[in-house]
Amino acid sequence: MKDVKAVILAAGQGTRMKTEIPKVLHQVGSGTVLGEIITSLKKAGIEDIIAVVGYKAELVKNSFAGKNIRFVEQQELLGSGDASKIALKGLEDFTGEILITCGDTPLITPETYIRLMRKHKYENASCTFLTCVTQDPSSYGRIVRDGWGDILKIVEEGDATDEEKNIHEINVGTYIFHRQEIGKYIDGIKKNDRKKEFYLTDIVDIYVRNGRKILTESCSPDEVIGINSRKDLSMVNKVLNRNTIERLMESGVGIIDPDTTYINKEAVVDKDTTIYPCTVIEEDVVIGPDCRVGPFARLRPGTRLAKGVEIGNFVETCRSEIGENTKVKHHAYLGDTIVGSNVNIGAGAITANYDGKEKYRTVIKDNAFIGVGVTLIAPVTVGKGASVGAGSVVPKNKDVPDGVTVVGIPAKPLVKETEQKEGEQR
Ligand code: UD1
Ligand code: CA
Repeated sequence: MKDVKAVILAAGQGTRMKTEIPKVLHQVGSGTVLGEIITSLKKAGIEDIIAVVGYKAELVKNSFAGKNIRFVEQQELLGSGDASKIALKGLEDFTGEILITCGDTPLITPETYIRLMRKHKYENASCTFLTCVTQDPSSYGRIVRDGWGDILKIVEEGDATDEEKNIHEINVGTYIFHRQEIGKYIDGIKKNDRKKEFYLTDIVDIYVRNGRKILTESCSPDEVIGINSRKDLSMVNKVLNRNTIERLMESGVGIIDPDTTYINKEAVVDKDTTIYPCTVIEEDVVIGPDCRVGPFARLRPGTRLAKGVEIGNFVETCRSEIGENTKVKHHAYLGDTIVGSNVNIGAGAITANYDGKEKYRTVIKDNAFIGVGVTLIAPVTVGKGASVGAGSVVPKNKDVPDGVTVVGIPAKPLVKETEQKEGEQR
């Protein structure tokens, strides 16, 4: 969309989060607060995005290097009105629309941005902004309307009268303005006496007094959560997780206990797979159909489970592919491992994939059997139908040939008792 540019106000420090890390770099899902907002704006079709940064500006800029985002700096944090003004400076000649959004509301969906832009355009408004009706409006700006329901102003919590505090319609912090018009009115924003800041929200009152057409578009209260504290951050992650879990359940995945299951929104899970409680599934994980995962499993990035795989309690997998009907049922770690089909990995088996400097690959071929408490030191391959006895340690590069059983520390091919006696007699 060439006629809309987006400005993200992201200069704030996040004082209420009590953190050294800029608020916008805190983690949401597998990304950051700012990263989520950028992704959603791009999905809504906005290509030109300008982020206003201030607190630890270099750190924020470096985190998005190569992401095709423009940055402008706000040296002194004088409020959302001042931040918007700084962003507009480089856009004097632009005649399209400017969408301004807070850098701490990562749950606003692309669909909502699109609805906002459409309404603004088709109703030919001067300003259109998002509001929502919420149970607990505290800490948000309240929407004050006249008896006809027309917008009068936005009043911040700290400046609101008791009557205004009872209003449950709140300001989401996302607005769209015509570039040339906002340029005319933004200088009219006065410094708020109490906070000594320029509020962008005060522009609404200015537009009303100048007879401009102001409209609102609504969104779900779930999208509105602005991250001001650690508690808000955890709420946002909860909402994201719940949305993912509900989407997966609708597509045929069984999730026994959504409250204790964490699934990254990028993970793919096929139908008739069941996820048991207290399981964590991270990004870049693909799970086939008819699998059982958990309870208490952790599937890390790069995990691929084929059809019918069973991953049980206290199993961790990372950058590992596991073939059809393989079972890894208790206390195991598989890292950088390719496991074939119909393999059994015993309780407590570990692939030692890291020697302190480099990571190496383990291959366990079809129908192999890995006993309880086995350590496989990578790089190593266990052949088709091979077995590794309980408690064995297979050293690196000591590949186990197809069909052979090895045991011991270090693991050696198992010599049957009769063969051993013959050897002794010779
Ligand atoms: C703001 C809105 C409020 C709305 C709420 C929604 C104002 C005055 N109030 O309140 O009506 O309900 O968001 O979440 O805008 N920022 C800068 N530079 C500054 C100050 C802030 O870039 O000098 C950025 C912050 O990084 C943040 C955004 O602007 O992303 C909003 O600022 P914040 O202090 O979080 O405002 P709220 O009090 O949450
Ligand atoms: Ca905020």
